[in-house]
Amino acid sequence: MKEDIKSILAKEEWSRQDLVALLKTEGAERKLLIDKAAEVKDHYVGNKVYYRGLIEFSNLCAKNCLYCGIRTGNKNTGRYELTGEEVLEAARYAWENRFGSVVIQAGERSGKEYVRRVEQLLRQIKQMSNGELGITLSLGEQSEDTYRRWFEAGAHRYLLRIEVSNPALYHKYHPDNQLHDYQARLNALFLLRKVGYQVGSGVMIGLPFQTTEDLADDLLFFRAHDIDMVGMGPYIEHKDTPMYRYKEQLMPKMERFWLSLKMVAVLRILMKDINIAATTAMQAIDPNGREKSLQAGANIIMPNLTPVRYRDDYLLYEDKPCTDEDAEKCKRCLEVRIKMAGSEIGYGEWGDSKHFSKRKK
Ligand code: 5AD
Ligand code: SF4
Ligand code: FES
Repeated sequence: MKEDIKSILAKEEWSRQDLVALLKTEGAERKLLIDKAAEVKDHYVGNKVYYRGLIEFSNLCAKNCLYCGIRTGNKNTGRYELTGEEVLEAARYAWENRFGSVVIQAGERSGKEYVRRVEQLLRQIKQMSNGELGITLSLGEQSEDTYRRWFEAGAHRYLLRIEVSNPALYHKYHPDNQLHDYQARLNALFLLRKVGYQVGSGVMIGLPFQTTEDLADDLLFFRAHDIDMVGMGPYIEHKDTPMYRYKEQLMPKMERFWLSLKMVAVLRILMKDINIAATTAMQAIDPNGREKSLQAGANIIMPNLTPVRYRDDYLLYEDKPCTDEDAEKCKRCLEVRIKMAGSEIGYGEWGDSKHFSKRKK
């Protein structure tokens, strides 16, 4: 007999099967789940949304993930790297507007010169902001030494999505070579923790071949690895990628959206005090996607600060929103939207993961 959702929601501990049942909820049951997540969020992390100003530093990438629009194999996109000045200007905007922190994101690259450049930028941002601006990095897999240098230069959080926690599936979405090795990626998460970062990870939702059981396992993966922050969102096909050929097999976009929302809600209840992002990919499907995510348990938003003329080149997936809106426009837009969603913006605060602070104690 199917156990009713109310009694699952009332349990202290969930089995994998419980997670699957929660991820399959629809209608009134789904609403019960989302309401419970909102309650847990309110109690454990409060009503504030923290900003991470997103600086898409470069779309150059050495990797060739089969789903991603900026993979090295996609020759249809112009490549760029922001100048140091452009990065600093975006960071200054974040600081002056009391965003609390920035995220520096780029495709995955290595090399001495690159590592040094990032290190220098970090020191400059810290100096410019009197150490006030928090810095999160999202620059892929790097060596322990690189992670340490960037940490010492001022970064204190790092996002590295595992993308999909099931190694067999990981293999399906990535080329079969050393550069795309599941174990290496997993190991990078350990290195980040070892160096001292607050560690973020995440997955894509609604990928071809992915089952609800896989998604339940993704949630258990975050818990098993004691992740401090999670950013996850729907997979959205991109026509210049190999995975576009599975387009017909995907669930409808709205279904991917709802599934992602349920993932956020279940994760909030499962890991009560972590930071969870309302991701841009949610907004790519539903214009109010991020606000809905906030109401389902998310507490982080990443307003885009990349200079507008580069934004069309950082298209990881189709229909990426805010490509024509500059920082000021997004800021005003978000203020209204967040207020409407019943949340408050944590201006001037780092908004660190409470989960991380607690572990440190
Ligand atoms: N759909 C959704 N998310 C994607 N990403 C890359 N390609 C896609 C896509 N087609 C995500 C990956 C990566 C992050 C920067 O963007 O999860 O970690
Ligand atoms: Fe590069 Fe990241 Fe895209 Fe993979 S997902 S191709 S590592 S930018
Ligand atoms: Fe960019 Fe609304 S947040 S236009």
